[in-house]
Amino acid sequence: MANCIEMPAPLHILTVIGARPQIIKAAAISSAVRTKFQGRITETLLHTGQHYDPNMSQVFFDELGIPPADISLGVGSGAHGVQTARMIEGIERELQGGKYDVVLLYGDTNSTLAGAVAAAKLHIPVAHVEAGLRSFNKAMPEEINRIVCDHCSTWLFCPTETAVKNLGREGFALGTDAPATVDKPHVVASGDVMYDNSMRFAALAGQRSSILTDLGLKEDGFMLATVHRDHNTDDAARLNAIFGALLGMHRRHALPVVLPVHPRTRKMMESLLATDMKQAMASTKGFHLIPPVGFLDMIALERNAKLVVTDSGGVQKEAYFFKRPVVVLRPETEWVELVEQGQAVLADADPARIASAAENFIGHGVPQCPPIFGDGHAAEVICTKLLEARG
Ligand code: UD1
Ligand code: UDP
Repeated sequence: MANCIEMPAPLHILTVIGARPQIIKAAAISSAVRTKFQGRITETLLHTGQHYDPNMSQVFFDELGIPPADISLGVGSGAHGVQTARMIEGIERELQGGKYDVVLLYGDTNSTLAGAVAAAKLHIPVAHVEAGLRSFNKAMPEEINRIVCDHCSTWLFCPTETAVKNLGREGFALGTDAPATVDKPHVVASGDVMYDNSMRFAALAGQRSSILTDLGLKEDGFMLATVHRDHNTDDAARLNAIFGALLGMHRRHALPVVLPVHPRTRKMMESLLATDMKQAMASTKGFHLIPPVGFLDMIALERNAKLVVTDSGGVQKEAYFFKRPVVVLRPETEWVELVEQGQAVLADADPARIASAAENFIGHGVPQCPPIFGDGHAAEVICTKLLEARG
């Protein structure tokens, strides 16, 4: 019999995605698995169906070259318990086949929570990408989701040093050499896969996106806004305050406002915004309420905005990657480095604070944004670490 070296079977990862930012984040590792790690890692993609409108899901598969999901649970929208329970049921069913070495989870959504609970209870190791982030505000569903996921994980991939420190404070051992297990997990400073993606797709956005021309916008000549946090959308006073502030800034600075409207926000605007606010927005030329855009258009908007106003985690950071100032429509942020660097100001839903932060930024130009989210190769760091664990 001829001598032959037996190759280990590829590491089989089940990646769980569901919400818009997770689909985008998954592009980086999905691409690494199909190129640099081909033959060593196999990925199966499970889409919970948390987001399902074509412009909240399919557009990102198409634009970012992500293969179609292998498994689609089609869970859809619902109350937290109902939605999460349906996801756990579907993920558990898939995991019971015993095919997977690792379950890979992103961020802090209900899809993340469901993946963590299903996998940990079946003793399948969890790798959490975007581990260690904390708002220290447990009224946010995301804070609950990320804490549970971190504490069910075997590998915690942190995008920032602050995330590593947060985990250290919660009792996670840092810098351990023992093999990673759910009881002795590894905390890894991996850098941020969103930085990988933004760098990778920025040139393509420049070639393919025509959104500036379509909306008649000039470089550095408009404000980009997004609003979708339940704390803002589901509270009439906060929602009216935010839209009032945006209208006020538009008038004061004579800059167009572009706001791709999240479906949750669209729904809540209809029921909660005052009639005169709706009329004022509809009759204001240069106040662009548009459907959610694809990632390439979003990058084009972020790179060229004079100012970004948002309650999104991802949009705050992308603004930083592209050296744009941000007014954060929240009382706190997980991305504290942005505030420390002076690129972001927390203004909550307070019109006076929003206006004053905007005024300062518009008067003082682009802040310093030193690189603090890795070197654009976080996906490779993560894949390498998962393979190392195999020995
Ligand atoms: C979810 C995440 C949030 C993340 C956001 C990204 C949780 C608890 N929240 O919030 O952390 O920042 O995604 O965008 O997981 N809807 C549609 N079409 C869709 C999707 C949603 O119409 O394709 C509407 C439905 O009315 C739904 C509502 O939006 O009830 C909220 O959707 P859901 O996924 O529950 O929460 P998000 O607010 O999107
Ligand atoms: N995004 C997008 N189109 C939009 C709004 C956002 O492609 O109309 C992208 C954005 O560039 C970022 C991600 O979606 O990569 C952020 O998602 P979202 O704001 O929904 O959630 P969060 O990051 O707050 O969890």
